[in-house]
Amino acid sequence: MRTRTNMNDDWLFHYGELKVRPHEIARKAYSLGGLTASLPEEKQKRLPISPGGSHFLRLIAQGDEERGLRNLCGTDLDSEMDDTWRKIDLPHDWKMDLPYENDGETLMSGSKQDGVAYYRKRFGIDRKLEGKKLILRFEGVMRMADVWLNGAYLGHANSGYTGFDFDVSGMVYFDDEGQNTLLVRTDTTRGSEGWWYEGAGIYRNVFLDAVPLVHFEEDDLYVYTKELCDKGALLGYEFSVANDTGRDVSTSVCLDVAGVRKNFNVFLKKHSIERFEGEVILPDARLWSPEHPHLYQAGLSMEEDEIVKSFGVRTFGYDKDGFMLNGRRYVLHGVCEHQDFAGMGVALNQDIVDFKVRMMKDMGVNAWRSAHHFASGDLLDVCDRLGIILIDENRLPEASPWRLDDFRRMLKRCRMNASVAFWSLGNEELTGNTAFGRRSVLKFAEIVRELDREHLIVSAELLSPEGFVDDDYLKSFDVLGINYPEAGVMGDGAELIRKNHPDIAMMSTENASYFSTRGIYMDDGEKCFCNNFGSMYSMVLPGRRKPSDPGVGGTARPEKVMEYLEGHEYMGGVFLWTAFDYFGEPSPFGWPGISSQFGIADLCGIPKDYYYYYKAHWVDEAFIHVMPHWNREGLEIDEDGKTRVRVFSNQKSAELFINGRSFGRKNLADCSAEWNVEYVSGGIEVRAYDDEGRETSSDVQDTAGSRAGFVLRKVFSGRTTDLVMIESVDENGTVIPTDDVCVSVEVSGAEVVGLGNGNPSDISKRSLDEVSLFCGRALAVVKRTENSAYKIHAEESISVK
Ligand code: GAL
Repeated sequence: MRTRTNMNDDWLFHYGELKVRPHEIARKAYSLGGLTASLPEEKQKRLPISPGGSHFLRLIAQGDEERGLRNLCGTDLDSEMDDTWRKIDLPHDWKMDLPYENDGETLMSGSKQDGVAYYRKRFGIDRKLEGKKLILRFEGVMRMADVWLNGAYLGHANSGYTGFDFDVSGMVYFDDEGQNTLLVRTDTTRGSEGWWYEGAGIYRNVFLDAVPLVHFEEDDLYVYTKELCDKGALLGYEFSVANDTGRDVSTSVCLDVAGVRKNFNVFLKKHSIERFEGEVILPDARLWSPEHPHLYQAGLSMEEDEIVKSFGVRTFGYDKDGFMLNGRRYVLHGVCEHQDFAGMGVALNQDIVDFKVRMMKDMGVNAWRSAHHFASGDLLDVCDRLGIILIDENRLPEASPWRLDDFRRMLKRCRMNASVAFWSLGNEELTGNTAFGRRSVLKFAEIVRELDREHLIVSAELLSPEGFVDDDYLKSFDVLGINYPEAGVMGDGAELIRKNHPDIAMMSTENASYFSTRGIYMDDGEKCFCNNFGSMYSMVLPGRRKPSDPGVGGTARPEKVMEYLEGHEYMGGVFLWTAFDYFGEPSPFGWPGISSQFGIADLCGIPKDYYYYYKAHWVDEAFIHVMPHWNREGLEIDEDGKTRVRVFSNQKSAELFINGRSFGRKNLADCSAEWNVEYVSGGIEVRAYDDEGRETSSDVQDTAGSRAGFVLRKVFSGRTTDLVMIESVDENGTVIPTDDVCVSVEVSGAEVVGLGNGNPSDISKRSLDEVSLFCGRALAVVKRTENSAYKIHAEESISVK
């Protein structure tokens, strides 16, 4: 049977190039030496040398075997581990520990320098795995990766967004033969793949799989929904059985698709692979949907091997009137998202990804665009479980052999995930709708059409104001994806396409790009803060502008996006840019902006006010949210002493009270209402009423007094990781919305692995015991120690820096 070993723990890490960069090519097998193999202090030979080999080396070097190795093989005998190496566990993002630097070149990628860093791991392998295929799997390394094992070069990977594997069966030590030495060089200096913060290092899982020689190819097992019919669901299946032995094999295979079984007698010639395909009917199939994400299991078993994968029964369709799920029109409430988080950079584990998706699901999100790169295994997993329809995006539609291979591999790996509905071939490529671009995307589309049976092909295209599209280019797609169709800056492009090509299936793939800073109600260009009522900064024509200027406050205001959606159902829905703020791309600002502000929530996952605007549109359960906070400092108060109060709610009407006095009830329009009232400290309360005038919900903002202490609240608890909110509060427990004090954080019985505050211009160096609050809050990412309770404590930091 197969086994999977998680290889995430106990690595040594070195930042910077090594004194001696290991070679890739050796003169004698496994003889590279240096850090690619065992070192003298590790009390293991660099490579096994036979008595004949030893004799020979001594002969050519006057009896000195070591010198023989150096002279004949070029073996590096000098490199050694020193105190520049430190212990780390994966996933890891080494850019997080670098200082921020004011350099125009790196502004978009998060104001951190690029560089080189190494990871080294020593590990044993159990003798009982001898005779199996041993596959070293890297789920993601940013960016260019070179890998060595036991004194030999394994290979190279270019992209930071695609996983890669090596079959190392023939080059490992077992048990008492010694430890294995794995060395990985990561290099971000050879070009960026994105215009956002991409992180650096081994930022996803590493596994060692041991697979029997007679085995199922995991990525070849594909169970898919062909059609939903009266009898149930008609499912297609494909799988393969491989024989990597030198003898013919007869075996019997059982396929179990959600309890429907089929048996196969299989004869495999030596070194061969047999492929199978067919159909089964699943009676009374429960469909997968965002509302009911029902997952089934499909498994293959035979005497030698066994695999199980989950799948969903559902169909996707798209025509000129929009998207369809399970044969019914369905509106996509989507968000776009990169893959980082406060304190962690791109090194996210399943818990943090779960937290992010859950937060958006609570807002009413039913779709996710993994932009502009393939979804991680963790993201696919949570989208399957929670019912999120996924656009899985290829990084670039360059039809180079390596990119096509990457695409093929990722597609096979993810095609059975219930959540995947669309393959996006790329984003805003300049070559879109050209004859040259047409030849490239066709190569990718051909791979989808060869290997995939149920998903839709899209890309996120740039618009031209004239609405130009190339009909031949579009033949590679099922749907024409368009970014920002609602934004005035694109003129009437999208409308013209619709008018001139009424039968084209069109989809809105990116919307809004509305910027706001969590907790902030006043623009401040120097601090890179954007007012949540709507910023006067613009990124299309940079700088501070008048309210009516194009692009002011972002590409489009949320209200404009929702209005567009209502009038354009044929565009399938929306994909809001973005769910969370992300590092890099600090538009509309430059330095010291270090993160984007497009998020509906900040980098820590704390919702901004407009989270509740979307929620009011997309969630039925009654609620009301009021903004701003009620401390004079930080509010825009006009000459008459008046300030704005806005509510978001899914109810019929709302009433505002200030210090207990009513300021009248207003009917909500577009899920919101606004008052302009005199500012008096104390507290505001809003009450929401339903169609019958019954009070259904309320919200308050009290004026906070001076700090009485800090409250620590667990806001999420995952399998290994907790997210703990640190809040500065007054004596009534009211969060102080203007408190940016620096706190020191102490934990016993667990480990703080990240601290963050969502401040888009906090350029302080990363620390794991100190963080400044931002608008009264900060977040600690805590890794629990198995089965033990822990204590976490924060107090005003007294350290002098
Ligand atoms: C889009 C682009 C995104 C992001 C966004 C910012 O055009 O696809 O990656 O840059 O603009 O508004």
